[in-house]
Amino acid sequence: MNGRLDGKIAVVTGIGAGIGKGCALHFAREGAMVYGCDIDLDAARATVDEAGAGSIHARRVDLTREDEVADWFTAIAREVQGIDALINAAAAAIFAPVETMRYHDWTFTLKAELDNVFLCCRAAWPLLKERGGAIVNFASANAYVTLPGSYAAAHCAGKGGVLALTRQLAAEGAPHGIRANSISPGPILTAATRDVFLAPEMNATVLRGLMIKRLGQPEDIARAALFLASCEASFITAADLRVDGGATAL
Ligand SMILES: NC(=O)c1ccc[n+]([C@@H]2O[C@H](COP(=O)([O-])OP(=O)(O)OC[C@H]3O[C@@H](n4cnc5c(N)ncnc54)[C@H](O)[C@@H]3O)[C@@H](O)[C@H]2O)c1
Repeated sequence: MNGRLDGKIAVVTGIGAGIGKGCALHFAREGAMVYGCDIDLDAARATVDEAGAGSIHARRVDLTREDEVADWFTAIAREVQGIDALINAAAAAIFAPVETMRYHDWTFTLKAELDNVFLCCRAAWPLLKERGGAIVNFASANAYVTLPGSYAAAHCAGKGGVLALTRQLAAEGAPHGIRANSISPGPILTAATRDVFLAPEMNATVLRGLMIKRLGQPEDIARAALFLASCEASFITAADLRVDGGATAL
């Protein structure tokens, strides 16, 4: 093997689809042993099969459940002495206009976008301390700008929370050798976003808002996550890397 992550241990959430899947596969290709989870176990297992050769372990976890997150990290701690990277890619959100958004939609979104990140970071903290590990969280271009026609109040609040939480994690982690950074993706083509971003009117709006006139791919994000998780980024913490085709600068 000759990978940039040879001998490293990475925990990746949301490996069943999209960016989490892209990260799990990319990290495994670069030599890491990946412990992944998803609420959809069949999807997570398909990612394991795609990687082949036992480089990704999958478990069903609902990351909005404190007990399930704790059990998952307890199980990981039985197998490894510390982790090098925690990639918090899993998230789910409900989009609705403010006036008609149910309180349930708001709390669901914040639990599935922000609470899950806190729960994983807290549970992983002792393991990250062991090896001076790196956290990569996912905010969003939506933490900076709004997208015309997108009813994203809860999502924007959740992602703004991830940005602020990551700064605090970096400050508290530094004395322990833990780095914490976030990535703010622009529009990335995944199974979940395909219908929205490829709908003709929305597609035109989205592309108008980009300097680089294409939708992003999960691999665009996975490469940035690998950099932030690796020792190549050893002096980078509390940063947010916008991987958005220039969207937030237009
Ligand atoms: N795709 C984009 O355009 C885009 C843009 C900005 C930010 N992001 C952020 O990037 C991250 C990844 O997004 P994506 O587009 O790949 O998402 P996705 O919907 O394609 O995949 C998310 C995965 O997380 C899993 N998941 C959701 N809730 C879960 C839970 N409670 N417990 C365990 N697993 C759960 C899903 O089953 C799915 O496999 C998210 O934080 C998202 O908000 C994405």
